Amino acid sequence: MGTERKRKVSLFDVVDEATATAKVNKANGGGAVHGINNSTGGMSLVNSWNGRPYSQRYFDILEKRKTLPVWHQKEEFLKVLKENQTLILVGETGSGKTTQIPQFVLEAVEVESADRRKKYMVGCTQPRRVAAMSVSRRVAEEMDVTIGEEVGYSIRFEDCSSAKTVLKYLTDGMLLREAMTDPLLERPDLKLVVMSATLEAEKFQGYFFGAPLMKVPGRLHPVEIFYTQEPERDYLEAAIRTVVQIHMCEPPGDILVFLTGEEEIEDACRKITKEVGNMGDQVGPVKVVPLYSTLPPAMQQKIFEPAPPPLTEGGPAGRKIVISTNIAETSLTIDGIVYVIDPGFAKQKVYNPRVRVESLLVSPISKASAHQRSGRAGRTQPGKCFRLYTEKSFNNDLQPQTYPEILRSNLANTVLTLKKLEVLNYLGALDDEGNLTKLGEIMSEFPLDPQMGKMLVVSPEFNCSNEILSISAMLSVPNCFVRPREAQKAADEAKARFGHIDGDHLTLLNVYHAYKQNNDDQSWCYENFVNQRALKSADNVRQQLARIMARFNLKLCSTDFNSRDYYINIRKAMLAGYFMQVAHLERTGHYLTVKDNQVVHLHPSNCLDHKPEWVIYNEYVLTSRNFIRTVTDVRGEWIVDIAPHYYDLDNFPQCEAKRVLEKLYKKREKDKEESRNRR
Ligand code: CDP
Repeated sequence: MGTERKRKVSLFDVVDEATATAKVNKANGGGAVHGINNSTGGMSLVNSWNGRPYSQRYFDILEKRKTLPVWHQKEEFLKVLKENQTLILVGETGSGKTTQIPQFVLEAVEVESADRRKKYMVGCTQPRRVAAMSVSRRVAEEMDVTIGEEVGYSIRFEDCSSAKTVLKYLTDGMLLREAMTDPLLERPDLKLVVMSATLEAEKFQGYFFGAPLMKVPGRLHPVEIFYTQEPERDYLEAAIRTVVQIHMCEPPGDILVFLTGEEEIEDACRKITKEVGNMGDQVGPVKVVPLYSTLPPAMQQKIFEPAPPPLTEGGPAGRKIVISTNIAETSLTIDGIVYVIDPGFAKQKVYNPRVRVESLLVSPISKASAHQRSGRAGRTQPGKCFRLYTEKSFNNDLQPQTYPEILRSNLANTVLTLKKLEVLNYLGALDDEGNLTKLGEIMSEFPLDPQMGKMLVVSPEFNCSNEILSISAMLSVPNCFVRPREAQKAADEAKARFGHIDGDHLTLLNVYHAYKQNNDDQSWCYENFVNQRALKSADNVRQQLARIMARFNLKLCSTDFNSRDYYINIRKAMLAGYFMQVAHLERTGHYLTVKDNQVVHLHPSNCLDHKPEWVIYNEYVLTSRNFIRTVTDVRGEWIVDIAPHYYDLDNFPQCEAKRVLEKLYKKREKDKEESRNRR
């Protein structure tokens, strides 16, 4: 039974782009719930969700919605949904699965019975935070309601929903969390719709005992594919060159370029804007918009704005150029794209079980991804896709499918959340029978990695839970340091002012304290090259974590700032969570990770003024070299005190660190004996 449940839930992870719609029991019950519209006797002019008259925009959007492919099969869908507990729906990206199907489900609930309706909620999982936010906004607009009221979203650290919410878009992780606190998900009246563009449908049918399969025919226009003759040395440069060429030579139509990450995307945006600017009025105006997950939501909405009009009447047409990570591959649909540029790379999560670290690596995409990408050019009219690699390379080098994310992820937190077990004995989360300990119970309530959870839960014992809360919050948000190209030196100097010689975690703490002292002041953030949005969100995360601490009566406390122990206690508490992420400085001058003996280097962004013998690290980054990032100095003596069960020398490879630890253990024994003798 247990295994069964685990397998079912992990389903959402297996299929990266799958969207699952579940009609789940609504925990909060309250609030009036109304139908989509009172369709008795023609179109109602009043929105029964909120009693307000429909806006003109509602009707305009409704007309467009009705042209989406899923609308042609609405009746069939409702019938199949009524007769089955689970169904599988496959349809091209953009056919309306994400935006329309959940609204159909709501309608079905309404038709069933006004009374039952009150108790239900529709949840729709999304593979990414950006997608959850953006699509829920769109659907709120479609239903003519305010986002966060009837329609909302829930992503880690941000819940934009209320007691009125009947339709919620949420990330897979958040659904797992709800499943944990809402056991009623197991009820037989749960309905499940598994949706995807690329699903291997038979596998899912097999899994769900032959659940019915609905296919929504696509309406993709033909897309002409072009390859390069020779491999490209620099795909970024090649992508920019191709954009400029399309803009000069091809008929009107927007361009979508796939790049791998924020820095690259911002760089490309700048260069394209500049190059096109230099071409003067012989070409049309362009609107270049970036799209990546850490972009503020308002900026993300810009991808849906239309292309700019020609500069002069009858002049060359304007173009929108979207430069995106692979979010735009399946998670978000942008209409009007006619040209796609695909360099063939994406940042992908890889998990290295040897060092137990998850990293994002720029790696070649699969054939299936390349196919998805080219499909984006044919949404509204025939299009063109420029692949910046050779046809031979496409045929011989690309794997057929992208490995499912579950095979590339660090599952520790998912597993802790899900079944609440794993090799978590080291953290004290499991007992010898594999059952959750009291500590493990509490840890599983934090939406964090087990290490961070452990660090928080034990922090009161080290008299520094306030500080550990701040550090955890800072580690949970995007990098707060801003380093603009044109002011790198000033930015580095500003960062150095926050620097703490014992480590980057303490530097983050300094930044957070300074930010709070300056009351979230915008100009202070600007002058100090810190990202105000990241800090605001850290502040928010901190409040949420503090609430969980309070729920478990974990005391909020600090060591006196003037005490010698202030920073020592913080570093010890961090070690109590991160003792499995320790590296030792060898006599050769290299660091080796403890137990797995991987050679690593301190990331150049570190703030240390020395090379400590032992460090804990937050991240293992694989690029040209192996780096450990966000590091803090810890002492060997603390390691043998705090984590002797993990640093058990009988179970330790031969290495320099082992010999050092041996001495430390001997010294500890001796000290103990001396103190016994003194007594
Ligand atoms: O889920 P699927 O890929 O099948 O399609 P969808 O996300 O429901 O998108 C259907 C249509 O809704 C798109 O073609 C867009 O026209 C529109 N849409 C939008 O305008 N803004 C969004 N944030 C999402 C979708």
